[in-house]
Amino acid sequence: MSEIELNDAHLKIPDHIAIIMDGNGRWAAARKLPRSYGHIRGCANLETIVEEAADLGIPYMTVYAFSTENWKRSQDEIYSLMKLFRSYLKKCLKIAENNQIRMKIIGDPSAFSQELQDGIRTLEEFSKDFKKMYLQIALNYGSRDEITRGVREIAAQAAAGRIRPEDIQEQTISDHLDTAGVPDPDLLIRTSGELRLSNYLMWQLAYAELYFTDVPWPDFDRAELIKAIQTFNDRDRRYGGLKEASHV
Ligand code: IPE
Ligand code: IPE
Ligand code: MG
Repeated sequence: MSEIELNDAHLKIPDHIAIIMDGNGRWAAARKLPRSYGHIRGCANLETIVEEAADLGIPYMTVYAFSTENWKRSQDEIYSLMKLFRSYLKKCLKIAENNQIRMKIIGDPSAFSQELQDGIRTLEEFSKDFKKMYLQIALNYGSRDEITRGVREIAAQAAAGRIRPEDIQEQTISDHLDTAGVPDPDLLIRTSGELRLSNYLMWQLAYAELYFTDVPWPDFDRAELIKAIQTFNDRDRRYGGLKEASHV
């Protein structure tokens, strides 16, 4: 975990922050604007926060943009979200290059249009050697779906005789998730007041610190991000055992 100086104080920077970017709809409704406009503002804010996070030296970030349950939204809302994702993926090429960010989409892309799937592949390929930050964007992502797909792969290997059931370890499961190779998040931030995980990174968040704020995602700015990191700094992390050595 790296440290930075901020207003004469040391701030430990988490290695991996996961964010549930919630509240676009309510942000828009409060202003008598359509939900789709809330998503546009939310998307613009993602760009801001990604750049702030890269600037703060956060090595990994994972953001929830569309869940496997979000298909239950109205056709109109789905249509505007898909349109936004298509244009945002193109914009991400510039954001990735300007900030040296590697971008990866987690979740099951097979439900998306061919154009969107091609956009995902292009972005991942284009940004694969950038090293300043690693950003995972969860699109058509659900933890239960991710674990189910991973277990299916392991079962196929077992059926083919390539792995013995007794050799399946926790690491085997981790290695078959979309997040394989990425360290687990240290801090989860959920905006807009809901106190639940909504099927997000349930395996990976086993020991993350949880931070909830009432601020809706379009209003979550650098100062709010720093507030979340400060709260994380004040927590007493334990992992089931004694205090972390650095706290003793
Ligand atoms: C989060 O904002 C973005 C997506 C789920 C796509 P919401 O759309 O859930 O906004 P609220 O929760 O209705 O305010
Ligand atoms: C979780 O938010 C998904 C994203 C932020 C993309 P939701 O708004 O969909 O979650 P629920 O329905 O309130 O649990
Ligand atoms: Mg919501």
